[in-house]
Amino acid sequence: MLQVPIREQSGQSSTKAVILVGGPSRGTRFRPLSLDVPKPLFEVAGHPIIHHCLKAIAKVPDVREVILVGYYDESVFRDFLKDSSKEFPQFRMQYLREYTALGTAGGLYHFRDAILKGKPERLLVLNADVCCSFPLTEMLTLFEEKDAEAVILGTRVSNDAASNFGCIVSDSHTKRVLHYVEKPESHISNLINCGVYLFATECIFPAIRSAIKRRTTRPRLLSYPSSDNLESSFVAAAGDDDDTEKSEVLRLEQDILSDLADSNRFFVHETKDFWRQIKSAGSAVPANALYLQKAFQAQSEELTPPSATILGPNVSIGPRAVIGAGARVKDSIVLEDVEIRHDACVMHSIIGWNGRVGAWARVEGTPIPIGSHSTSIVKQGVKVQSITILGKECGVGDEVRVQNCVCLPYKELKRDVANEVIM
Ligand code: GTP
Repeated sequence: MLQVPIREQSGQSSTKAVILVGGPSRGTRFRPLSLDVPKPLFEVAGHPIIHHCLKAIAKVPDVREVILVGYYDESVFRDFLKDSSKEFPQFRMQYLREYTALGTAGGLYHFRDAILKGKPERLLVLNADVCCSFPLTEMLTLFEEKDAEAVILGTRVSNDAASNFGCIVSDSHTKRVLHYVEKPESHISNLINCGVYLFATECIFPAIRSAIKRRTTRPRLLSYPSSDNLESSFVAAAGDDDDTEKSEVLRLEQDILSDLADSNRFFVHETKDFWRQIKSAGSAVPANALYLQKAFQAQSEELTPPSATILGPNVSIGPRAVIGAGARVKDSIVLEDVEIRHDACVMHSIIGWNGRVGAWARVEGTPIPIGSHSTSIVKQGVKVQSITILGKECGVGDEVRVQNCVCLPYKELKRDVANEVIM
C-alpha cells in the first residue's frame, strides 16, 4: 500500500473519491503507447489522464481523500502521488492495489474498510479512462435534492453508437433511472453511462454484497471480466457461499447498476458538455483537443501563444521536443524529446517519446468527425485507425509519408506507408 500523508486534517469528510485505474492487463487497446506508460499516466493536454480527474475532484468542497484503486504495481503511481499531493494538499491520497483484476465493483468491495474509514456518507467513483468536464458539483446537488442512493453521469450519443455503451432509460421529468442495460443488443436509449458515479455508501456496498450472494446461487446470470483468472474465480464462487476474496469479481456496469435501477432512488445527471472515453491510443487525440479547448475557454495560463512554427490547433508538445522551422503540427500529441525537422507536417497523430520526423516528411491521420466516438475508419475496405501513432523512438525518414498507421516502438520508416500496423 502506498500512502501520501495528508498535510492538513480539517474535519471529517462526508464524500470520498475513488478513481478506478485498472491494471496492466487492461488498456490493451491503448497499445503501443501503453507499452511504455500505464494508460492512466499518459499525458493528455499536458497532464496525466488521471490528473484531470483529480482537478475535477478538487472542486468538490468536502472531499478530503482520494483513493486510486487498481492492480498495477505499487511503484507505478508513487511519483504521481507525490507530485499530486503538492498540487492538491487538501487531499489525502493513496493507491490501493488489488491482488488481481477484481472488476470495477469487486475492487471497491475488496477495499470497503479503507473506503468506509472516517464514515463518508457519499462515494464518488470515476473511471480513469474518461475525458469530460466532470460536473461533480451538479451531481452532488441532484443527489441531495433527490435524497438519492446513486447518481450516474449520462450523455447523449447517436442512436447508432449507443449500443456500444451502457444505456440508461430515465424519466426525463424526475431524472430517475428506470432501466440500465450494459451494451444492449437492441436500441433502448441513447442516454449512456459516462463512467462517473456518486453513491450513498450505505447503499453501494450492500448492493455489491447482494450481487455476490446472488452469484453464488445463480452463477450463470452474472458476467465477468474476460481475463483468464476471472474464469477460475467464477468456478470457485459457484461452489462457495462464504464471502471469500475470490467471489468478489464483479463489474458495476453489468452486475450492480441494473439492480440499482429497481430502487426508486437512482438518478441520472445528463451532461451537455463534452465527453469521450479514452480507450484506443488514438482516442487520446480528441481528448487532448477537448481539454485544450476547455483550457482555452477558461483562458488558462498554461496555454502558450502560437510561435513562428505553425502549431495548432489542438497540439500538445512534450518537454524538450524540438520543432524545426516551417514545420506544421495540427491536432496532435508530440511527446517528450521528439524532434520534428524543418518543413515536416504532423496532423492527427501521436509522436511517441524520442521520436524523429525527418525534413519534409508527412505523418498524418484522418480527422475524426465531431461527435464521433470511434477512432477507426474504413480505408480501401480495411478498418484502420484514424489517428497515426508512432510508438517510442520511431524514426521517419526525410520526405517519407506515413498515413493512418500504428507503428510499434523503435521502428525506422524509410519508405511511404499507409493503412498499416507496423510491427
Ligand atoms: P473494456 O471497455 O471492456 O475494453 O474494458 P476496460 O478495462 O477498458 O474498461 P471498463 O469499462 O471495464 O473499465 C472502466 C474503468 O475501470 C477503466 O478506467 C478501467 O481501467 C477500470 N477497471 C476495469 N477493470 C478494473 C478492475 O478489475 N479493477 C480496477 N480497479 N479498475 C478496473
